[in-house]
Amino acid sequence: MVSQNKNKSRRALVAHLSKIRELGYKEAQGLPQGFYLDPWWTRQEKTHLFEKQWVCVGRRQEVQNQGDFFTCSVSDEAIVVIHSNDGEIRALSNVCRHRGTVIMEGAGNTHQLLCPYHHWRYDTFGRLINAPAIQPSENFNPEKCHLPMFHLEVWQGFIFICIADQPAPLAPQLEAMERQIAPYHLEDMHLHFQTTETWRVNWKILLENFMEGYHLSPLHRKTLHKVNPSRLCKHLFPGDLHFGYQVGFTSRIPDNAVGHRDLTPEQLNTCVMFAIPPGLTVGVGSDYSSFLCIQPNSSESVTIKMGLIFHGTDWGQTEIDHAVSLFQETMKEDKSVLLRVQKGMRSTRYQPGPLAPANLEGTIWDFYQYLARYTEPDEGRLFTD
Ligand code: FES
Ligand SMILES: [Fe+2]
Repeated sequence: MVSQNKNKSRRALVAHLSKIRELGYKEAQGLPQGFYLDPWWTRQEKTHLFEKQWVCVGRRQEVQNQGDFFTCSVSDEAIVVIHSNDGEIRALSNVCRHRGTVIMEGAGNTHQLLCPYHHWRYDTFGRLINAPAIQPSENFNPEKCHLPMFHLEVWQGFIFICIADQPAPLAPQLEAMERQIAPYHLEDMHLHFQTTETWRVNWKILLENFMEGYHLSPLHRKTLHKVNPSRLCKHLFPGDLHFGYQVGFTSRIPDNAVGHRDLTPEQLNTCVMFAIPPGLTVGVGSDYSSFLCIQPNSSESVTIKMGLIFHGTDWGQTEIDHAVSLFQETMKEDKSVLLRVQKGMRSTRYQPGPLAPANLEGTIWDFYQYLARYTEPDEGRLFTD
């Protein structure tokens, strides 16, 4: 049985989200700490966001050739994304139809999915092709042991999966954001760096951090402030399933700057930071872009697949290394402070303060409004969890 106190604080979270839908930006504040600590709330987010919406899990380029695969999770679903032998990219359940072992690990190239436990074997379409020592019978029809498939869409080179039964297509919902970033041609950018990390922070703390420019100058004084200071940030008009801001560069990039020919001089000098919640944030630059695929493990742990994608093919290893080390340095600065935010959330004395002007933190408010729109807590469970 949940204690009365717990029920009271959960009711307060629900009431808080209803309230902020009515508020204007002048009244915008951070979220109360329960949103970053309560496992019950994280369960609600998994149910209503990660299990219902399109969630980004990586780049199309990771499965460039037939047989290429990588594994991932969306909420509690273990998934293998595979380039099947007919040229299609599929998202298959990575759970064996025998006794439930997770079949594949990591990433690579394969012509079959072989369960390590009793060696049931599936092809790249997810069809069961061998179950050692078990003959087909009334009780066992191998054709009915297909690995279940999830919805998959590629947008701007990013692979999105939806584990809900009948989701609305993703791309039409992102048209406004697509217009904004189309000239950068993210779909053609090449993946040269990727890594996956687990941080002991709530997933929203990470997403909020990537999506606000207020901290660029103070926290990243030695790194990003020199090129993209907070004063050059501008809030972009949000959509239902996306939001973002842009930030200019301190000095004009020379005319021979790297970037797609579709870009105007102003766009060449502007980064667009956008989020497709719940699982993707992207920092779009004319020369290269960064992205985070975000997946909560629990209320205080998040797995992040992060990477850099580059425009064109003229990049030398030294230039790539330079971009990677700047990215890693800024992520290190972010991580050090985000661990402290998570720690601060546990204080009984913490009370949320006001958000900075919209050009600096308007995206945080867009994110809260998105949470308020799409998380519909199951109040019945308040009493039983
Ligand atoms: S659980 Fe996969 S073969 Fe037995
Ligand atoms: Fe940062």
